[in-house]
Amino acid sequence: MKPLHIVLMAAGQGKRMRSKLPKVAHSVLFKPMIRHVLDTARSVPHASLNVVVGHGEDAVRGACAGLDGIQFFKQVEQRGTADAVASAGSVFRGKDCNVLVLSADVILLSAETLNAMLAHHSRTEAAVTFLSAALDAPFGYGRVLRQGDRVVGIREEVDCSVEERKIRDVNSGVYCFDGSFLESALDVIQKKGQNQNKQGEFYLTDAIALAAKEKRAETLALSDPREMAGINDRVALSEVEAILRHRTNYRHQMQGVTIQQPETVWIDSESKFGEDVTVGPSCRILRSQIGEGCEIEAGSVIVDSVLGAGTHVRQGSYLEKATVGAKSVLGPYARLREGSALGEGVRIGNFVEVKNSRIGSGTKSNHLAYIGDAEIGEDVNLGCGFITCNYDGKKKHKTRIENDVFVGSDSHVVAPVNIGRGSMIAAGTTVTEDVPEESLVLSRGKQVTKPGYAKKYQTEGQE
Ligand code: UD1
Ligand code: CA
Repeated sequence: MKPLHIVLMAAGQGKRMRSKLPKVAHSVLFKPMIRHVLDTARSVPHASLNVVVGHGEDAVRGACAGLDGIQFFKQVEQRGTADAVASAGSVFRGKDCNVLVLSADVILLSAETLNAMLAHHSRTEAAVTFLSAALDAPFGYGRVLRQGDRVVGIREEVDCSVEERKIRDVNSGVYCFDGSFLESALDVIQKKGQNQNKQGEFYLTDAIALAAKEKRAETLALSDPREMAGINDRVALSEVEAILRHRTNYRHQMQGVTIQQPETVWIDSESKFGEDVTVGPSCRILRSQIGEGCEIEAGSVIVDSVLGAGTHVRQGSYLEKATVGAKSVLGPYARLREGSALGEGVRIGNFVEVKNSRIGSGTKSNHLAYIGDAEIGEDVNLGCGFITCNYDGKKKHKTRIENDVFVGSDSHVVAPVNIGRGSMIAAGTTVTEDVPEESLVLSRGKQVTKPGYAKKYQTEGQE
């Protein structure tokens, strides 16, 4: 096998997106478009990975951030796909190699398909092998021109005659070239005046006709034409995203996750599930680990979080950077923000917000509360309307509540403050000083009752 270099074209603007952001940096199922292609490309063994950037270079590089082993090339002016590949010329010029050319907007392509194309290319010793497919709606794609069975070239839709436009065979934009053929073909295509087409661009697709003259152009038809869907506008983006989402959900379902109304559920490929998890309609789950037997009800969002086994997330809850122990019950409409760490069997009820707080096992906060920057022990009861007053306008302060404390409803704690083990805070109390263990704390105003006063007030001054 010759050495293999991958050239990924990602310098175009993507005009049809009508966006300030370069097309390939747009997100598809929570990941920049180009990232999907990079992930597939990286699964091809022993190949160098080269990305051509240009329009919106910073955003595109940003979308590739954190991946090592990528070499970037700059296409200064976006003069077409031949010019894009030529920008990475130093990778293959004068070398005995194969060059796999990928487009950053064709993201559904599988590693198996790429490998099949590479195998076909090696076997036939072609100058170029490209993937094609017969589409019912070939619009927007370059058409594959043939004489008899032989491929003779590719014509872009805008340059097609009325007759050529009827051809259903289209070019996927994915090619494997023999390195030295590619080098000479680019030299021919990039000669002055070779861009006399409707777009005034230097087309990589013109290399196919050159190879065909030597009878060395090969095409491999895709068994699933959906793999080659290119994303040129936001309609195509949503269509491709739906396919990807369906694929990802399917994989999770086959691994034992029940997904209700999967067409409404968004789960990324990184999330991991134990057996017998149920995910309700319209949920979104990202970069998370969901333990065995968890139930996630409709409309919940779980991001960068870990749930222990048997935890129940009721409708409409929102979890972000949180860890939750086993057999806890959250929601409906609970919100766990970054740094929430809950023990086992914790109950966080409706309209309770937790941020940067540890909450011990068996502790309950069932209704309408804010728990921020707190360290709360085990088996604590936090009544309805409990609030940690953690912010003094300048700094955040910590609240510590030890095990077995009972906090009555409508109580506030003004941090920093510590409440000792086994204490009771009466309803309606504002705690401002540390409380020793097993104490009772009350801070309510004394009740005043004036019998008959209300009636008298209401009738005073009336005729
Ligand atoms: C291209 C093919 C077409 C094929 C289709 C498949 C050409 C001339 N046409 O058309 O036959 O059916 O893909 O999806 O190649 N790019 C650059 N620099 C440039 C121009 C483009 O890096 O100067 C990049 C783009 O960022 C994109 C890729 O090349 O990732 C393809 O460009 P695009 O403009 O989308 O080509 P299509 O019109 O879709
Ligand atoms: Ca395209």
